[in-house]
Amino acid sequence: MRNNVKNSNKKNHKDNKPVSEVKTDMAVKSEEKPEEILSAVTSEMANEATDNDVTDNANAPMVLAENLVKIYKTPELEVLALQGLDLRVERGELTAIIGNSGSGKSTFLNMLGGLDEPSAGKLFVDGKNLFKLSKKEKVLYKRDTVGFVWQNNGRNLLPYMNAFENIITPMQLTSEKHKKERALELLDLVGMSHRKNSKLNQLSGGEQQRIAIAIALANKPKLLLADEPTGSVDRKTADYIFDLFKRLNSEYGQTIIIVTHDVALSKKVQRVVAIRDGKISSERILKEHYIMNSGSSEINWLEEETQDEFAIVDKAGRIQIPRKMLDSLALKDNKIKVSFDDSIIRLENPLKEEN
Ligand SMILES: Nc1ncnc2c1ncn2[C@@H]1O[C@H](COP(=O)(O)OP(=O)(O)OP(=O)(O)O)[C@@H](O)[C@H]1O
Ligand SMILES: [Mg+2]
Repeated sequence: MRNNVKNSNKKNHKDNKPVSEVKTDMAVKSEEKPEEILSAVTSEMANEATDNDVTDNANAPMVLAENLVKIYKTPELEVLALQGLDLRVERGELTAIIGNSGSGKSTFLNMLGGLDEPSAGKLFVDGKNLFKLSKKEKVLYKRDTVGFVWQNNGRNLLPYMNAFENIITPMQLTSEKHKKERALELLDLVGMSHRKNSKLNQLSGGEQQRIAIAIALANKPKLLLADEPTGSVDRKTADYIFDLFKRLNSEYGQTIIIVTHDVALSKKVQRVVAIRDGKISSERILKEHYIMNSGSSEINWLEEETQDEFAIVDKAGRIQIPRKMLDSLALKDNKIKVSFDDSIIRLENPLKEEN
């Protein structure tokens, strides 16, 4: 692939620390109505100096989301899909986002893709404030800055065109001089050169997905987004597709965010963030030892414990206790005993101690 920087920014986690920045000054209480939350957040935003914290330059993180709120309103109900989500993704990172169905993963990805607007909050991609882009800038952003792979291939590929034509189409309105060569290179990159004349209905789900990745890469996006790219393929094909993303990241420095349900696959990446109820709740980072050997085929990803797990602490000091730990404490009500002992914070069931 031409014009890509090899191995750029590959070792963002060499200090093995989570880089997620949590900023949830907004108190979301269950009794508050979405409008109240929204107005609290917007007035808070109005009081802040707006864009001067992130500017349009190459040193800005690839993604900076602050306090993102999304409320879907239908005549019957209002859904709080994102509840003050904060996330920072550096250039050159491969990040997986996991979370239960309905936790807000697609909502967030669609916002990154410029396909949806938030109800409140800030979102910067490549130093650009997405919510301040004009219509024309938004069109250019979608064409040049992000590439999107959907789970539903009907959305990725035009059925009346063959694979080659599908890949060359996004380049038609750009100044790319070598469109044909680039389309052939991309076919090669995803291992589909032999099927360049095939149409959508002549390809398997996994093959369509590989073509979809080539289409998303056509305009050399700075950020590649994939929503459940392995959701409807078998294990072997899912492994192949995931390895393709890993290769794009490690060999070409491509920044990638993948939403996945597949916990086994997510263990293969350097960083996994978990969304719970529209907020980042925890994060897993590949252990230093594995970062050093991440190119090695000797790692048995599915058996080894490869990642360290971190809970995310917000600015107000709140954390979400992982559900399993909370259940094992078997609290009778919502009180928990907190003690501090030689730099270790203990959380205990107060009743248990009395017995
Ligand atoms: N257009 C919409 N109108 C109303 N509610 C919506 C809309 N889109 C999403 N939602 C709601 O927002 C919440 C988050 O949805 P989202 O699609 O982001 O979840 P998800 O984490 O991607 O789930 P899944 O894993 O099932 O794809 C859900 O409760 C969903 O019902
Ligand atoms: Mg989804």
